[in-house]
Amino acid sequence: MDGKVCIVTGANAGIGKATAVGLAQRGATVVMVCRSEERGQTARQEIIDRSGSQAVHLLLADLASQDDIRQLAQSLLDQFAQIHVLINNAAIIPLRRSLSVDGLELQLAVNHLAPFLLTNLLLDRLKASAPARVITVSSGVHRGATINFDDLQSERRYHHTDVYAMTKLMNVLFTRELARRLQGSGVTAYSLHPGVPSTRLSAHYAGYVGEGRASFADLMRAAQTSIYLATAPDIENLNGEYFANSRVQSSASDPAAAQKLWQVSAELTGLTNGG
Ligand SMILES: NC(=O)c1ccc[n+]([C@@H]2O[C@H](COP(=O)([O-])OP(=O)(O)OC[C@H]3O[C@@H](n4cnc5c(N)ncnc54)[C@H](OP(=O)(O)O)[C@@H]3O)[C@@H](O)[C@H]2O)c1
Repeated sequence: MDGKVCIVTGANAGIGKATAVGLAQRGATVVMVCRSEERGQTARQEIIDRSGSQAVHLLLADLASQDDIRQLAQSLLDQFAQIHVLINNAAIIPLRRSLSVDGLELQLAVNHLAPFLLTNLLLDRLKASAPARVITVSSGVHRGATINFDDLQSERRYHHTDVYAMTKLMNVLFTRELARRLQGSGVTAYSLHPGVPSTRLSAHYAGYVGEGRASFADLMRAAQTSIYLATAPDIENLNGEYFANSRVQSSASDPAAAQKLWQVSAELTGLTNGG
């Protein structure tokens, strides 16, 4: 991965941090996207120490804020002439319904709209850097979920795991529609289930607030599919597919819902190219 620039969101903890270590170990220039400078700097040092690579950068953005995402994208475009891999990894599961600074339900904002907006803002640079890849970390819990297009903000009903599963289904459908739009561009898109290490996020999923108990080895195991999708040669023919254990798995595929989701997401993020 020498010379390859790889962005990892939510790289200061859990699977994202392990993914950053794995990519740095393979020679990539890693760009961590984190919301806390303190947590980001601490993790950056750990990633440098574990990987032995100094090519680890930190950019700050709260992915719940569309202004922050736009500023982040501009900083990335200014600082990196090429971008080869974007890993949309950050996610949250608030136990109670809350709103982003943009007035959007927080899981919808961070887990789906942030990847959607950041990816679109970086798309021209990814195309210019082709071959390039967009990898979005979903979850096996997307199976069985449905997208409530008439209540996307979960105003009528909020249960943290149901809304989480819906946003993870959005990750899969976003990837399928992105792949369709990117055909022939040299940029490919993949989604994945990483496994179930004990992290802050999985504690929230289980209904309590706590730090995860996963060892770093557990996190590295959970990072393997993201690392595989970022580094494996010859997977371009699998554009749009969903992976677990570094293999294609069956998953949601609903082209009409994926196109509708794209259009609604473009409206909610103020993108004009949503057609
Ligand atoms: N762990 C599992 O069992 C499991 C299973 C299936 C799928 N996944 C998926 O794996 C991915 C990583 O999850 P994880 O388990 O590693 O979770 P984690 O340990 O809780 O890490 C989540 C990361 O996302 C960041 N983040 C959250 N909100 C953010 C925001 N508004 N702006 C910027 N960064 C933000 C967090 O930063 P802070 O430290 O600042 O909060 C943290 O770095 C997620 O997409 C998740 O859905 C996890």
